[in-house]
Amino acid sequence: MRNAGLALTFFLAACSSGADSMKSHTHSAHDRAPLAETTDAHSYSNPREARATHIELDWYVDFERQQIRGSATLNLALAPGAKRCILDTRDLAIEAVTDAAGLPLVYAIGDRDPFLGSPLTVELPHGVERISVRYHTTSESSGLQWLTPEQTAGRRAPYLFSQAQAILARTILPCQDSPGVRVTYQAKVRISNGLAAVMSAENRSRADEPGVFRFEMPRAIPSYLIAIAVGDLEFRKIGPRTGVWSEPTVVESAAREFEDMESMIDAVESMFGPYRWGRYDVLVLPPSFPFGGMENPCMTFATPTLLAGDKSLVNVIAHELAHSWSGNLVTNATWRDFWLNEGFTVYLERRILERIYGDRAAQQDALLGRDDLSQTLKDIPAADTRLFLDLTNRDPDDGMTDIAYEKGCLFLTHLERSVGRARFDPFLRAWFDEHAFEPVTTGQFRRFIIERLCNNDIAAAEALHLDDWINAEGLRRDAPDFDASVFAAPTAAARLYESGATREPPADAANWNTAEWLHFLQRLPKTVSVENLARLDAAYGLTQRTNAEIAAQWLENSVRAKYEPAYGRLEQFLIGIGRRKFLKPLYTELAKTPEGLARAKAIYSAAREGYHPIAQGTIDKLLGVTADK
Ligand code: BES
Ligand code: ZN
Repeated sequence: MRNAGLALTFFLAACSSGADSMKSHTHSAHDRAPLAETTDAHSYSNPREARATHIELDWYVDFERQQIRGSATLNLALAPGAKRCILDTRDLAIEAVTDAAGLPLVYAIGDRDPFLGSPLTVELPHGVERISVRYHTTSESSGLQWLTPEQTAGRRAPYLFSQAQAILARTILPCQDSPGVRVTYQAKVRISNGLAAVMSAENRSRADEPGVFRFEMPRAIPSYLIAIAVGDLEFRKIGPRTGVWSEPTVVESAAREFEDMESMIDAVESMFGPYRWGRYDVLVLPPSFPFGGMENPCMTFATPTLLAGDKSLVNVIAHELAHSWSGNLVTNATWRDFWLNEGFTVYLERRILERIYGDRAAQQDALLGRDDLSQTLKDIPAADTRLFLDLTNRDPDDGMTDIAYEKGCLFLTHLERSVGRARFDPFLRAWFDEHAFEPVTTGQFRRFIIERLCNNDIAAAEALHLDDWINAEGLRRDAPDFDASVFAAPTAAARLYESGATREPPADAANWNTAEWLHFLQRLPKTVSVENLARLDAAYGLTQRTNAEIAAQWLENSVRAKYEPAYGRLEQFLIGIGRRKFLKPLYTELAKTPEGLARAKAIYSAAREGYHPIAQGTIDKLLGVTADK
């Protein structure tokens, strides 16, 4: 698998330097980040010397061997005198590297770093601008999850899906796996068994080619947005440019749940500029999907736990759609700037909610986020509570906390309230328009604020406390707050439990929406008695709730209080659902007591093989389990 003989010292030196450039070789007048701002500590690639601009994938999806095999052919833009191209790989088996004519090229594979993987360095004799890598994925390729038929809704056909963010694209294909490098791509995907494939691209499949799927992404995207899913998939139209894909048994309910997608697009367009990706579809995955949603272009991937039946969890769809502006169009240059993706997106998510479901829904979403942020500020090391992070020698996952999401959103809300929407909205729209299809850094955004929001007036800029927001730990005391009265009822109800007395469940709770229940359950004192939980359960059937957010929160409360009647549901929930956001707090809460830890380990030993590698990694670490490989 390795071509160690060619691993010249020379190559290794070149490899250790990290992705060295984030921008195209073209120049325009506007602000581009200085090079020092854009070195990506999470990529070995050398785009300043040889930059991938287009990728052609020729894949065979082999469910029997659980591997993708074929080739990735990359077009390169070369700087004068370019000698080599460095690609990121992790747990891929490289078979051959050739030029456009099929002639072998000299290459070397460097040592494997646990997060970064191995640099694949390809020598470029004069004139080579197109390289083809023949390879296959391995059982360690963590960006892919292969499901058996039993792990799907239909239980008839196997399923494959990918998840590349943050740095797992390199486990799926050799590429320059830095968000600062953008490529267009084309794919030809052959499938053995009559299933359907979707990708984060336009579908160009032909009716006369059974078992072959063709895709094209004509707009340049970062590697973390390359995605594929294969399974027994059906499509249901929602609007002219929107629809849902899923296994046949859930497609109908998904289409109903997400019927507002088309109007969500209209809403963002009217505020922040055109939707530039053609179609917008949502793929509803099997329950092991490790995230709520993933903003793969043209095709958001989503957890089936959003299907609450009452649209109460569609804020996740609003969020993933919003990434079509913040993230996919204007992209964090490195994972240090992750808040530019997520903080902006949470801000847009709430603007969408406000438009479609009203101010109250948006305020409730904001207040839940504010509470999450307070919790995170207590839980994580102070140094990690900065928006702009140094993640060198760390897993980029370490920076993917509520700080990026909620502190980032609060920063934008602070700017919005300081200058008013009449000025803020056009400012934000200009940010998207003027940086479309480009990577951006925190420094660039800071300069954009000073220029466009403050007209270079230093006093005006100082009044915004930009450096404090961007670089300081914690949260400023004058951070924006929200109208707490939208949660008056659940707040008051939760407060009654502070005395510890056994009491009647709140009488008005029958009409609470999901957000109100979540707020109530989160605000219940940690010492709430088993007896009070039993009464709440008897009155409102909380253990049997099918809304996954409410169930997860209720189960967390139940574990904390040792409310045993919920343990059966807990086990079923942890085995049936692989969304990391739910798993992590539940296993964490269990692990706080010796009996709980034993229970957690027992459940995990049954659940683990159904989880995605990303979730396995998180829970392995949490429970101190070492994978038996
Ligand atoms: N892009 C993220 C998911 C992600 C982040 C994957 C980092 C891998 C690394 C996505 O947009 C997201 O934030 N999803 C959230 C939902 C959202 C409403 C906060 C989720 O999955 O819970
Ligand atoms: Zn997001």
